[in-house]
Amino acid sequence: MTEVLSVTSECAPLVKTGGLADVAGALPGALKAEGVKMRTLLPGYPAVMKALEDPRVVSTQAGLFGGPARIIAATAAGLDLVVLDAPHLYDRPGSIYLGPDGRDWPDNPERFAALSWVAAQIAVEGLGGWQPQVLHGHDWQAGFVPEYLHAMGGTGRIGTVLTIHNIAFHGLADAGKLRTLKLNPNRFNPDGFEFWGRISALKAGLMGADRLTTVSPTYAGELMTDAFGMGLDGVMRKRRADLTGIINGIDEDVWNPETDPAITPYKDAHGKAKNRAALRAELGLPEATGPLCCVVSRLTEQKGLDLLLQALPTLLARDGQLALLGSGDGGLEQAFRAAARDAGVAVRIGYDEALSHRMIAGADAILVPSRFEPCGLTQLYGLRYGTIPVVALTGGLADTVINASPAALAMGVATGIQFHPVTADALTGALTQLCDLFAQPAAWDMMQRNAMRQPVGWGPSAGAYGALYRGLAARS
Ligand code: ADP
Ligand code: GLC
Repeated sequence: MTEVLSVTSECAPLVKTGGLADVAGALPGALKAEGVKMRTLLPGYPAVMKALEDPRVVSTQAGLFGGPARIIAATAAGLDLVVLDAPHLYDRPGSIYLGPDGRDWPDNPERFAALSWVAAQIAVEGLGGWQPQVLHGHDWQAGFVPEYLHAMGGTGRIGTVLTIHNIAFHGLADAGKLRTLKLNPNRFNPDGFEFWGRISALKAGLMGADRLTTVSPTYAGELMTDAFGMGLDGVMRKRRADLTGIINGIDEDVWNPETDPAITPYKDAHGKAKNRAALRAELGLPEATGPLCCVVSRLTEQKGLDLLLQALPTLLARDGQLALLGSGDGGLEQAFRAAARDAGVAVRIGYDEALSHRMIAGADAILVPSRFEPCGLTQLYGLRYGTIPVVALTGGLADTVINASPAALAMGVATGIQFHPVTADALTGALTQLCDLFAQPAAWDMMQRNAMRQPVGWGPSAGAYGALYRGLAARS
């Protein structure tokens, strides 16, 4: 058995803002077959505290980054959890990252530094007799783990992995916080965790972790380029030898069209018709001859949905339709609400798990026109549900979809449509191709069959993480 502590700021189904939660929630189960025992260290947000089963307080601290804290071992939703209950840091209503003003909580650096500090402590001192061999951190929230491990004398004995789910978020703090964040001032330089005069939690992790992973092979390559590295491409090039891209899987029990309780279950794509009719009725969309397209997404610059607003008239002119579920940027929310004045467009602003299943089951295609996409999960749901993905040729979208090129169509292997560059014109072209293919039943059926056969589970990727952990554990 390899013992791993996963260090994460979100974990489905307990607390989720995006795909990181899905991955953190699915990995422990997927890794069991690999002989890996993974426990998950999570902040004690109200939603997490409420969900705990069989909680046991394992240790207490009088002062952890400004207040008392308890470490609680518990289970919840089949996960083996270690929860950092520190009310002064986590007992807050609303979003886990943002205050009521919609901006980052000003003490976010301390909130997640505390999480990383406790992870390092557990690795060095153990927790009720249990000790991990590897600390696997996710994103900037776990960035300081190697720094703290070093300060506590654990470097070399305990392996560290940092997974980059999105390099856009750096976890920056002012240099004045060096002391409150318990960081070594000697490491505040460009070879340490300094980023243009500020403290970068992500850079600390990128420089210090033994191994780095990201969530697709293509994104691993992109991270080393100026266009995608968000100022950290030099660091990524430096760490090239220690970086691997491991594609995400999806939870095949939660996303299974044959058993999904949110829909009328189906085995093959013909079964989509009932779900399509139900979705149209639910959203007030009329019958149409073109494809019903869906989007399930955060509404942010990353996701390229402003391009969809520009390309939409082309889809509608072919009697195609759009059903969008999302929330985020106020301007985009407003623009999509305005677009929904057209009879062929239905927009639901908000976050709704069950509706996301009904949309993906009922739609003919799913659109993901992201400017960058480390992996992306919704195109994988689309494949599994026979809902043809139309995606930008970037990151994990490039790695998971087989483009309907003339050759791929002739060979009968296409699963979706990819477009490049990520512009409104190229997306318009992709939507035109989608409408053309939708009008050719033989080609369309073939793509749906291929899509539903595509492997999208955790299998090989769980194997890759298992091998990575074993390699690190063997050194200690
Ligand atoms: P990201 O993590 O960048 O947001 P991913 O595609 O990796 O992108 O993961 C997004 C996850 O969040 C998916 O599980 C998707 O279904 C879900 N999701 C996004 N927006 C919504 C929403 N408005 N309602 C329900 N689920 C959503
Ligand atoms: C990030 C990325 C997304 C990825 C997810 C899970 O949120 O934006 O592409 O699928 O993490 O790794």
